Amino acid sequence: MSSIRSLALLALSTGFASLSAAQASGSGSTTRYWDCCKGSCSWPGKADVSSPVQMCGINDTPLSDPNEKSASDGGNGYMCSDQSPWAVNETMSYGFAAVNIPGGSEASWCCACYELTFTSEKVAGKKMIVQATNTGADLAGGQFDLAMPGGGVGIYNACTKQWGAPAQGWGEQYGGIATDECDTFPSALQPGCSWRFDWFGNSDNPDVDWKQVTCPKALTDKTGCIRQGETPTGGDEGSDEPSTPKPKPTTAAPPASSSPAAASSYAAPASSSAAAESSSVAAASSYGASSASSAAAVSSSADYSSTKEAPTGYGSMSAPASSASYAAPEESCEVEYVYENEL
Ligand SMILES: *[C@@H]1O[C@H](CO)[C@@H](O)[C@H](O)[C@H]1NC(C)=O
Repeated sequence: MSSIRSLALLALSTGFASLSAAQASGSGSTTRYWDCCKGSCSWPGKADVSSPVQMCGINDTPLSDPNEKSASDGGNGYMCSDQSPWAVNETMSYGFAAVNIPGGSEASWCCACYELTFTSEKVAGKKMIVQATNTGADLAGGQFDLAMPGGGVGIYNACTKQWGAPAQGWGEQYGGIATDECDTFPSALQPGCSWRFDWFGNSDNPDVDWKQVTCPKALTDKTGCIRQGETPTGGDEGSDEPSTPKPKPTTAAPPASSSPAAASSYAAPASSSAAAESSSVAAASSYGASSASSAAAVSSSADYSSTKEAPTGYGSMSAPASSASYAAPEESCEVEYVYENEL
């Protein structure tokens, strides 16, 4: 409805008219993840936006310093639990995603919104509007990695540190839990986890038709991130979700040892993400649900985090043009390495 106006504004304000037009719509795929890490669009300077995507500290309250490092990189930056999906009504959901849109970069993706029309699986025919909060060197063009708690941590896992999740996250490292065990999750993550088994019909990586749209205010209210020239639409689409008071922003600080959510995980000494991944290999067999392929994925992820280079030989995924930027140390958590999950 307002996509034409949005594109016109984008063209006027950025001068990327032809690029924007090329990105306006297409067909693509989805995957799912929730790694608890700071998303790449939470860093300053990624795009011309009102403010980077709000991130949270280990106790899930907003941090005010956008330069706080991601939790998987030794920092205290986590994804806020309210950046979970929710159903607006029976045919529309709102949420957040790591994206890779053909022909663009984070400068054009961060905090842009995309309307997805699902074209396969049980969710086919329904729509979802996602705001881009993250990207990934592994994402193919037109791939939306939908953020949903319990969707699998992928290569980086801050959920064990933040919420005491199993060593390789809840369920499979890639794909997450297979059945609705959301009532065992931290309460802040339960609504977003349940969304997958309710509204989303436990669809497994459905395909989509997508088009860029002006962001709904209900999404930008959660991230605090509005692209320059955009005026978010609507206002009350969040009314169906349980109201949780937004905590006051706090400055980045070492997590209090009294944080209940983190109490168990803070008994463990801090470790590098590579070490954490090694230990997740050790823990894999005891977790039961893990397969040989996910163990292999873990060992390749350890290589990945130590070299900071995308593994070769992963032919179906095309690296974005700006892949060089993903080698920057501060990217070590939010870069997703998502394998298609074959359950
Ligand atoms: C669902 O919500 C969206 C967004 O507010 C709205 O555009 C659409 O008309 C609604 N659909 C129904 C069936 O209520």
